Amino acid sequence: MSLEEKLNQLEQLRDRAKLGGGADRVEAQHKKKKLTARERIELLVDDNSFEEFDMFVTHRSSDFGLADKKYLGDGVVTGCGKISGRKVYIFSQDFTVFGGSLSEAHAEKICKIMKMALKVGAPVIGINDSGGARIQEGVVSLGGYADIFLLNTLASGVVPQISVILGPCAGGAVYSPAITDFVLMSKGTSYMFVTGPNVVKTVTHEQVTSEELGGAMVHASKSGVAHFACENEADTIDKLKKLLSYIPQNNCEDPAFIDTGDPADREEDVLNNIVPENPNQPYDIKDVINLVVDKDTFFEVHEEFAQNIVVGFARLGGRSVGIIANQPAVLAGVLSIRSSTKGARFIRFCDAFNIPILTFEDVPGFLPGVDQEHRGIILNGAKLLYAYCEATVPKVTVITRKAYGGAYDVMNSKHVRGDMNYAWPTAEIAVMGPKGAVEIIFKKDIAEAADAEAEVQKKTDEYREKFANPYIAASRGYIDDVIEPKTTRPRLIRAFEMLQTKKDANPPKKHGNIPL
Ligand code: HXC
Repeated sequence: MSLEEKLNQLEQLRDRAKLGGGADRVEAQHKKKKLTARERIELLVDDNSFEEFDMFVTHRSSDFGLADKKYLGDGVVTGCGKISGRKVYIFSQDFTVFGGSLSEAHAEKICKIMKMALKVGAPVIGINDSGGARIQEGVVSLGGYADIFLLNTLASGVVPQISVILGPCAGGAVYSPAITDFVLMSKGTSYMFVTGPNVVKTVTHEQVTSEELGGAMVHASKSGVAHFACENEADTIDKLKKLLSYIPQNNCEDPAFIDTGDPADREEDVLNNIVPENPNQPYDIKDVINLVVDKDTFFEVHEEFAQNIVVGFARLGGRSVGIIANQPAVLAGVLSIRSSTKGARFIRFCDAFNIPILTFEDVPGFLPGVDQEHRGIILNGAKLLYAYCEATVPKVTVITRKAYGGAYDVMNSKHVRGDMNYAWPTAEIAVMGPKGAVEIIFKKDIAEAADAEAEVQKKTDEYREKFANPYIAASRGYIDDVIEPKTTRPRLIRAFEMLQTKKDANPPKKHGNIPL
């Protein structure tokens, strides 16, 4: 073969690989409002930045007539590209080849890029669109999945791992995304479940569609598996790029500084009146967040899930921060099982990747009730406490209103290594809410009073006056300063600047035992 012929052969093989499962299957994919594996990568990475690996890999099976059914690349496109100039490793499953199902060779390709990402210290982005284990390969395919799960676990906390679900992701396959840091799903075209509608019907006699069982909104709002339910594939990729902008390349680096142009000394008069005078009246903590952080930088994570706590990234003076905030507008901002686990997971991500943590606190306590107790509010509330205690990144708290009981301790109090703890003058920091406290400590007086209701009111007012304020905590140094709300932004920027060189560590250990 002449050199020219050899070059032609290479060109032809590349073209064949790029065709995936063929024009008909590509058309079928487009008809389902889905892009192909390569089109998705193109949307994701900077122009001409993608280096593809293993384009000529094929499966090694011969059972079930597979010997003469080989597609170059074997159902997954892998490689390294740049997103806004930052290196990322990517795998993108190709549904047009055996339904994107995972063979031994397909798994090896994924493992190869994960190992490279670990060595190089760059994020891994997995685009999932797959019928699961390659049925014809049997246990070899299961082995491939397990190899990926192991690498997901070893990479956890070392490089960020982000899963994008743009088609089916079923059976044991769901456990790879579940181990990664963030899961983004596209509405209407993606679903995740351990057992599909048919098995569910056989076992539990429940009739349910794929969308109802494991669609994007279900996982974003009910199970919490998905951090983002996106409108379509393009929106999913946009959100992924935005998410990446707040996080570093690996656990040894800091997130990038981006000058947002928002003045560090910007004060907001509105904040002085944002907390209603009536302590039982709600307000939206997201208004507070948006007024304080750099303009238009708040990027909420897990928006639909456990809305009584708000978590997300933002920039303060150009630097990335992770925000955890009680939301008085939903269930009075109470800590529940789901909000505790949501907060804990987010804190642990931030801590693993050197992202400082900002806490806004307005919490009446933990959610009471038989259901919460029996489903484990103790264990789950402990996760949030553990996550705050364990975190060594700079941690700053602003108490806007209520900080009662155990919830005061949990929400990044000074006692769990909060670095700078501020309170607004509207803060109420006490062992419990005034009415509950009065009903216990003045039980006898109330019983003996001619007008019990009036007695409760009188004592409640006295208690509120005396204890429901920030100054007792401030007199102990549990609060570093009581600040005028309108100055919150400049104070926080200064606090994080001061803490930029903070160094703290936990005792050496194999790993802790977070109450799972
Ligand atoms: C091999 C598969 C496949 C699989 C799909 N295909 N899934 N090939 N192994 N797991 C092939 C089909 O034969 C078909 O090939 C092409 O992909 C497209 O599939 P369709 O069924 O035509 O597409 P669609 O109607 O969109 O349905 C998609 C689907 C369905 C819902 C994913 O294909 C499906 O139910 N597949 C099986 C899912 C499953 O049970 N997987 C195993 C789960 S167990 P042609 O040649 O016609 O294009 C598992 C264990 C993992 O994954 C455990 C890890 C620990």
